[in-house]
Amino acid sequence: MTELFDAVDIIRIKRDRGTLTPEQIDWTIDAYTRGAIADEQMSALNMAILLNGMDRAEIARWTAAMIASGERMDFSALGKATSDKHSTGGVGDKITLPLAPLVAVFGVAVPQLSGRGLGHTGGTLDKLESIPGWRAHLSNDEMMRQLADVGAVICAAGTGLAPADKKLYALRDVTGTVEAIPLIASSIMSKKIAEGTGSLVLDVKVGSGAFMKNEDQARELAETMVALGKDAGVNTVALLTNMSTPLGLTAGNAIEVEESVEVLAGGGPADVVELTIRLAQEMLECAGVHDADPAAALRDGRAMDVWNRMIEAQGGDPRAVLPTAKESETVYAPADGVVVELDALAVGVAAWRLGAGRARKEDAVQAGAGVRLHAKPGAVVRTGEPLMTLLTDTPEKFERAREALENAVVIAPPGSRPAQQLIIDRIS
Ligand code: URA
Repeated sequence: MTELFDAVDIIRIKRDRGTLTPEQIDWTIDAYTRGAIADEQMSALNMAILLNGMDRAEIARWTAAMIASGERMDFSALGKATSDKHSTGGVGDKITLPLAPLVAVFGVAVPQLSGRGLGHTGGTLDKLESIPGWRAHLSNDEMMRQLADVGAVICAAGTGLAPADKKLYALRDVTGTVEAIPLIASSIMSKKIAEGTGSLVLDVKVGSGAFMKNEDQARELAETMVALGKDAGVNTVALLTNMSTPLGLTAGNAIEVEESVEVLAGGGPADVVELTIRLAQEMLECAGVHDADPAAALRDGRAMDVWNRMIEAQGGDPRAVLPTAKESETVYAPADGVVVELDALAVGVAAWRLGAGRARKEDAVQAGAGVRLHAKPGAVVRTGEPLMTLLTDTPEKFERAREALENAVVIAPPGSRPAQQLIIDRIS
């Protein structure tokens, strides 16, 4: 086959800070997906994009080309509004678990295609797989049926959705090119637009445990994604939220399911409850439901009913006892005072090293592994009180987890106050 362009010319354009034409972008994505551009060439192009950026028109075309590489789902036959949430990833971020059933209570269908954890950020599917019997892989027909019957589904994205992104993301992961705003925005939005949701709420994380370490970068990513969504006809808003400290009191798999069930039972940590309710309100507003009271649906058990049906529909037993780790070790407070910092990245790396996450995508995760926190920023502690419990089936992992946590906790003299703001901004 005669190729329209030469990969080396495309790389040189971006290397020299030029702008790619729509035809060049379409060809690049198509040629890479079918193997006509080599991994080393695409790596060089990704690095040039990371260093030199892309303008909005290039990002929009890049996204459209990735969507066109695969199938598009269509939920219009459901006859209901649809809404989805996407988080850019963090530590202890289990919000999808209570959120999907909570939104479904109000008659909005939630088709939540989720992923697995890689590195220090957890994956929703890994968490749910700690529920005995639960199945992540559904056919498109099963997904439609569950959306019609239950109203919410959390499952793995099929292989047909944005295949260009699957190949590109795997390459970025091993070439230091994940953290490029044009590449992150197009990767996330190609999947969400191809998924066919009518509205989308983005939770863009800022802080040590997030891809975007500072607010300016996070804001740019959020604005880019909101513009891509709106241009594609998806009603999209974004919240910028704090990921400098873990969400809730757990980072792991089964322990995060347990905490999510507490939220669905009307309890749970205040930050997880606040973000779940706020994201539910945003999703419902975007889907055209204006008078809902999600807090009441957590209190009165309606969200829990949908959760139970959602887990059962995917083969899981929502009442089953969850797996627990065989071994535990406690980390104690070294001084009296107020916890003013508890670093999300350090806790995420510790949970990962304990076995909750994976280093390579083919690795297995331990359902019971992770970190249980006993004190969050703002807590007053005394010397020798437990700060956190480390959990694993493989005790040889404790040492490396403790190393990750060496500077994770800052305790200041009594009376100090931590800087805390969970929801930083809203972008629409
Ligand atoms: N999540 C994605 O799906 N893609 C990225 O590039 C980063 C986070």
